[in-house]
Amino acid sequence: MNELLRKNIVNLKPYSSARTEFTGKADVYLDANEHYRDFVEMKDANRYPDPKATVLRKKIEEVLGLPFEHTVLGSGSDELIDNLIRATCTPGKDSILILPPTYGAYRVFADINDVQVREVPLLPSFEIDLPALKRFLSKERNERSEGRLKLLFLCSPNNPTGNSYSLETIEAVLTMFDGLVVLDEAYYDFSEGESGVSLLSKYDHLVVLRTLSKAWGLASARVGIAVGSRELIEVINKIKYPYNLGTPSQALALRALENAEAVKRSLDEIKRERSRLSGALAGFGCVRIVYPSDANFLLLKVDDATRLYTFLTENGTIIRNRTKERGLENCVRITVGSQAENDILLEGFEAYMRKYYA
Ligand SMILES: Cc1ncc(COP(=O)(O)O)c(C=O)c1O
Repeated sequence: MNELLRKNIVNLKPYSSARTEFTGKADVYLDANEHYRDFVEMKDANRYPDPKATVLRKKIEEVLGLPFEHTVLGSGSDELIDNLIRATCTPGKDSILILPPTYGAYRVFADINDVQVREVPLLPSFEIDLPALKRFLSKERNERSEGRLKLLFLCSPNNPTGNSYSLETIEAVLTMFDGLVVLDEAYYDFSEGESGVSLLSKYDHLVVLRTLSKAWGLASARVGIAVGSRELIEVINKIKYPYNLGTPSQALALRALENAEAVKRSLDEIKRERSRLSGALAGFGCVRIVYPSDANFLLLKVDDATRLYTFLTENGTIIRNRTKERGLENCVRITVGSQAENDILLEGFEAYMRKYYA
């Protein structure tokens, strides 16, 4: 692991906050320069949050089965993506590898950190091109000079293509690559597949990301989860902002996890709606392909993505135009909403057909 980390991170003496130095119960807290009272009638609003979100992480273990000692929380999984890049890649020297089309933030965080982005595109089926990846990695090893390929981002189910990679495929990548493999499972709850978490005991160089922003309906709270080796979790704890997850966010996340039954019911509903939408959309003459999806969105190839996007937007329904992404010409991504929202979307498609195909 040390080989994958930046030297300054290995040697880093992290900021020691008041709430990490003293974790017990006291009568009087005069250690953190907080106000002695709050003005918003929320318990502990005037106090700094628990830096390690201990109660929440215990709940996460209980409900999601992600072992307490192996988790660290971020302000969204976006923060964890950024932390992983910052922990491993020396700016101007090291690089990350992505498999496009995929989640755009990997590139953005790399760019912000002045970290080079290398690419091995997915096959037209959106599966990983394992032979091409193998060739790329052995070439990279041979040509390695000062900088090094440190991270490989795998997104499964992948945004925006919606497909999942099998555990065999993920294992094949893990055996090929000796850097850190970041498996982003933001949409895992919507899929029927097996989680890569089961591979963690076998592969130290794997870290899995989850989020409460999607299936758990908590995008506003910004709660992301990294699951990995104790060593890696320790490193993220060292470099994250000490109080990265506010008390209101931790409290909201606890409430959501206590309501797991309702979330599970809504997952069934989203999956039913996904299949209804997929069938209905495939019936429109302007739709060329509705790709299968393991997530809470559908990727469609249409006649003219920009024209469709503009038409729907002007009629009050926003979808995502992905036509400029590599391999996604004339593709749009549509979130599966409530039944009523999906009906409005379908009416929008009907109106589009009347306007351009009548
Ligand atoms: C694949 C993927 N990973 C991570 C994220 C970020 O999620 P969070 O809200 O936890 O930062 C998203 C958000 O759209 C996503 O699509």
